Amino acid sequence: MPTLSTSKFRMSTCVNIATSFSLGALFLVLYLSLFLTDHKTPYPQEAVRKSYVYSHPRCQQDISAANSTGFSSLSGEVKDFLYYRHCRHFPMILDLPDKCGGADKSADVFLLLVIKSPPTNYDRRQVLRKTWGQERTHKGLWIRRIFISGTMDVGLEKERLNKLLQLEQQEYNDILQWDFAESFYNLTLKQILFLEWMDRNCPKVRFLMNGDDDVFAHTENMVEYLQGLSDNDGSKHLYAGYLIPESFPVRYENSKYFVPVQVYDSKTYPPYCGGGGFLLSGYTAAVIYNVSQSIPLLPIDDAYIGLCLAKAGLAPVSHMGVWTLGWAVPSSKLDKYDPCFIKEMLLVHRFLPADMYVTWQVIQDPNLKCGGAKWLQETPSVTFSW
Ligand SMILES: *[C@@H]1O[C@H](CO)[C@@H](O)[C@H](O)[C@H]1NC(C)=O
Ligand SMILES: *[C@@H]1O[C@H](CO)[C@@H](O)[C@H](O)[C@H]1NC(C)=O
Ligand SMILES: *[C@@H]1O[C@H](CO)[C@@H](O)[C@H](O)[C@H]1NC(C)=O
Repeated sequence: MPTLSTSKFRMSTCVNIATSFSLGALFLVLYLSLFLTDHKTPYPQEAVRKSYVYSHPRCQQDISAANSTGFSSLSGEVKDFLYYRHCRHFPMILDLPDKCGGADKSADVFLLLVIKSPPTNYDRRQVLRKTWGQERTHKGLWIRRIFISGTMDVGLEKERLNKLLQLEQQEYNDILQWDFAESFYNLTLKQILFLEWMDRNCPKVRFLMNGDDDVFAHTENMVEYLQGLSDNDGSKHLYAGYLIPESFPVRYENSKYFVPVQVYDSKTYPPYCGGGGFLLSGYTAAVIYNVSQSIPLLPIDDAYIGLCLAKAGLAPVSHMGVWTLGWAVPSSKLDKYDPCFIKEMLLVHRFLPADMYVTWQVIQDPNLKCGGAKWLQETPSVTFSW
């Protein structure tokens, strides 16, 4: 566990508040002068672009995968992964070619929320749309939202779930769906499909928050943190979250995270940020996409990004405001739903939809009184690094 500097935290919070005020005022002026004179509103977009035309041949099973040593003793899921590991292109069922206003205008999007959500998680998507995932501006900067999904089940059930996403798309226009089977081992594929889509449709987005649909992301704090960086146009490397500096492939067959040597034979993973939620710049997203073309897919999506970063010679960094692992909550006395705790954070794992809604409402309350981040004074074992 990292170490805490309380006074540094309080100091930077004060500075943040002070700069927020002056920057807020400055941005209001800029925002009004830019957007009220140039365009009526930056969104919605004027032209409707044509959807992507899929032009790859259907990806075939690679039977030679069965030639690797010990293949027959592997579970069906791992075998399946190895058979289809090379498949990187799948047809899109739902597309959002205009989400960022087109490739050129995508620089207008400051923070793109990219949330992995399988078709069945309707309730989670709904609550995110009403809470931290709302598409809006904060301090004059645009926040946009995308859910990324594959398909589930087969036959009529698959069609019914596809219909659900299609109906949501009509109403909210926030879903990318590809025709591949959702599974834990296919999460990396989903990630790479998104980066490919981004390269085509939103290459100039400044920053992204990539995460799960059960995290509480304080998107306003994120915008303020990113805006406060010295390079805040997304053109420099940034990859920040809950840092896992060293980890090892799980060789225990019954684990969800099981990765046999046939899939990944190194004994360690490079450093990476936990996949529950992390921040990255548009630049870093493009680098990861580039580098990924020459790295075979790995079933653990966040560790795979670590591999890509390492190959590109880039490092992930720890951000103390991101708590994606249950055991990392800084104090046993701490209630993770405590609005005063949430108010200081960037992202906390894991929330049920009802708790998400209540917490969001409570932290919006301008009369909420917080005793100056009490939890930080009790827990001298966390490092803060805004
Ligand atoms: C797999 O092994 C079989 C039999 O050992 C061999 O005939 C075949 O060429 C191998 N396939 C590949 C693609 O290596
Ligand atoms: C990943 O998706 C593809 C396409 O639907 C499927 O063939 C494959 O079995 C899936 N892989 C796993 C490990 O579930
Ligand atoms: C990605 O690769 C392309 C072609 O190799 C290159 O032109 C581009 O600069 C690369 N982008 C980044 C961000 O590395």
